[in-house]
Amino acid sequence: MVCGASEGTGAEFALQAAAKGLSLILVARRPDKLEELAGQIRTDHGVEVVTLPLDLTSPTAAAELFQAAEGRDLGLVVFNAGGDSVGGKFLDSPYAAWRTLTQRNIDLLTEACHGFATVFVKRGRGGLLLVGSEAALGGCGRLAIYTATKAYAMNFGESLWKELKPHGVDVLNLQLGATDTPKLRTVFARFKLSPDTVTLTSSQDVARIGLASLGQGPTLVLCAGEDSDNPLISARLRRERVEAQSSFLDNFYGPA
Ligand SMILES: NC(=O)c1ccc[n+]([C@@H]2O[C@H](COP(=O)([O-])OP(=O)(O)OC[C@H]3O[C@@H](n4cnc5c(N)ncnc54)[C@H](OP(=O)(O)O)[C@@H]3O)[C@@H](O)[C@H]2O)c1
Repeated sequence: MVCGASEGTGAEFALQAAAKGLSLILVARRPDKLEELAGQIRTDHGVEVVTLPLDLTSPTAAAELFQAAEGRDLGLVVFNAGGDSVGGKFLDSPYAAWRTLTQRNIDLLTEACHGFATVFVKRGRGGLLLVGSEAALGGCGRLAIYTATKAYAMNFGESLWKELKPHGVDVLNLQLGATDTPKLRTVFARFKLSPDTVTLTSSQDVARIGLASLGQGPTLVLCAGEDSDNPLISARLRRERVEAQSSFLDNFYGPA
C-alpha cells in the first residue's frame, strides 16, 4: 500500500515495488492520476492494482485504509503523503488549515500504524516505511508545523522500530532532502523561482534507496554519508541511541 501514490516519490515507490512483483493498493486524492498509474503498472508489470481515492486528512481515513486492506496479504505500507500543504508562517494561516497537516502527518499516521502493525505482528512479518524529511531534525521559520510533524514521525518510527523488530516487522524513517517531485515544482513556480538553484534528488533514487534499505532502520537521512559521525544524521549513531535509550528505560520499567 502506498499512501500518497499519485505522483513523485509515491508513484515511484509503486512502480518499483510492482517491478519486484508486489501487488498494490494506491491511495491519493486524485482518482484520474491513480487510475493512469494503475493502468501503466498493470500493463508493464502484470500485478494486481487497486486504487483508493481518499483524502488522508479525513478523520475516517485510517478506517478506509484498513477496509481496503481487508482480506489481502498486505506486507508493506509506505506513508509517502506528507508535504507541507499549507506553507508559510504559523500565524499567517488559520489553525484549521494547520489542523489538516497534523491530521494527516500525525493522527492518520499513528492510527494507521497501530492497525497495520497489529496485523503484521500477528503474522510475524511486514514493513512500515515512513517517508520523512531532513526538516524533522530541527525547527525553522516558515516550517513550524511541517518540521514538528516530521519530528513526531521520526521519533514515533524510531520507537516502533525498536518495539516491532523482535516480531519480524521492519520500520524505516527515510529522511529526504530537496527532492524533484511535482509538488516541489509547484512551490518553485508559485514563488517564480528556478529549481536549478538547488540540488534535487530524483524520486527514482528515493524509492530505490528506500526499498533497498527497509531492513536498515530506524532512520536513514539521505544526505548523510555511511561513515558520518554526526549524531543527528548518522544512521548508525541514531540506531545506537535508540538501543541505548530503550535499555536505559529498564531502570524504570524493568526489562522489556
Ligand atoms: N519534495 C521534497 O523536496 C521533499 C523534501 C523532503 C521530504 N519530502 C517528503 O516526501 C514526501 C512526498 O513529498 P511531495 O513533494 O511529493 O509532496 P506531497 O504533498 O506529500 O505529495 C505526495 C503524494 O501525496 C498525495 N497526497 C498529498 N496530500 C494528500 C492527502 N491529504 N490525502 C491523500 N493523498 C495526499 C499526493 O497526491 P494527491 O494530490 O493526488 O492527493 C501525492 O501523490 C512527503 O512526505 C514529504 O514530506 C519531500
